[in-house]
Amino acid sequence: MTLSADQIKDANISYHDAAAEEYDAKWGIDYGDIGQSQVAIKTNKVLGKDAHFERALEIGSGTGYLSLNMMQNGVIDEVVCTDISQGMLDCVEASAERLGFSDRVTTFHTEAEGFPYEDESFDLVFGHAILHHLPDLQESFNEFYRLLKPGGMIFFAGEPSERGDKIARYPKQIGHHLSPLWRKALKVGQLSEREAEAVAAGERSQEYIDGHSVEHLVDVHAFKPGDLSGFAKTAGFSDVNVIGEELTANWFGWFNRALEADGIPEDIPWSWRQYAYRGYLGFQKFDRTALEGRLPASIFYNLMIGAVKP
Ligand SMILES: C[S@@+](CC[C@H](N)C(=O)[O-])C[C@H]1O[C@@H](n2cnc3c(N)ncnc32)[C@H](O)[C@@H]1O
Repeated sequence: MTLSADQIKDANISYHDAAAEEYDAKWGIDYGDIGQSQVAIKTNKVLGKDAHFERALEIGSGTGYLSLNMMQNGVIDEVVCTDISQGMLDCVEASAERLGFSDRVTTFHTEAEGFPYEDESFDLVFGHAILHHLPDLQESFNEFYRLLKPGGMIFFAGEPSERGDKIARYPKQIGHHLSPLWRKALKVGQLSEREAEAVAAGERSQEYIDGHSVEHLVDVHAFKPGDLSGFAKTAGFSDVNVIGEELTANWFGWFNRALEADGIPEDIPWSWRQYAYRGYLGFQKFDRTALEGRLPASIFYNLMIGAVKP
């Protein structure tokens, strides 16, 4: 099915508004030591260990995973978090207040193709798992370029690679087929059954039901490394660097996520969660130390890009 740019944006608004409240729990988003170290791994790879930016703009900030952890890590001083979903931005505001960052974090409801900011307003434009949702990427990269001061940088992470995404389908499919057995073995109830009961009992709003029904429409791209560097170079960026990260960690992660996907989260035993989390960290370390930088970027699941505005 080919969707127009407006249909893609509408699906993104409906789904992410509906998903906002449960988003951090679903994706294990954390603002403590774990979240900070996971984000530091990413920024160190692309921006370097001593990176520091005064005024930053996050595109598609979601609930604030990257911004709030980069702020805690001292990488950014002030940030404007932007998103097409107001539901997500409400979550950023709540978390920023809880972390004591309300005076340094502002939110702005907008889509990624046009911002009402003057040229050269920011030192860093960044995002995580956002580019693959954007209908017109060249227009967005041109806009990122316009918004940056000379010497400013872009940093995007968590973008699915075309080949990595294809390979990851196998662990996903195997996990999906084994999930009924897994639920039975661990005595985990079925989430879709509980959801159907909640809908029948009128406990779910129409927005929630409609939003979740369009989840399959929100991802529009998977990239070759050259696609991402091409958009950046065409916009005028220099020092363009595309890196691949996470290979075995993603196979392991997607297999477990597919097993768990239709399980009631509260039923999943603590010991299983520990195994899944510690296993993921172990594979992530293996990828980082043994594979990344040795194998071509295109084979990894996630792509990251950094570049400089001359
Ligand atoms: C996969 S989520 C990632 C959120 C967050 N960056 C994270 O890593 O947790 C993608 C986010 O991009 C937002 N988004 C989707 N399309 C957008 C667009 N055209 N302009 C701005 N934000 C958009 C969604 O609302 C959602 O919050």
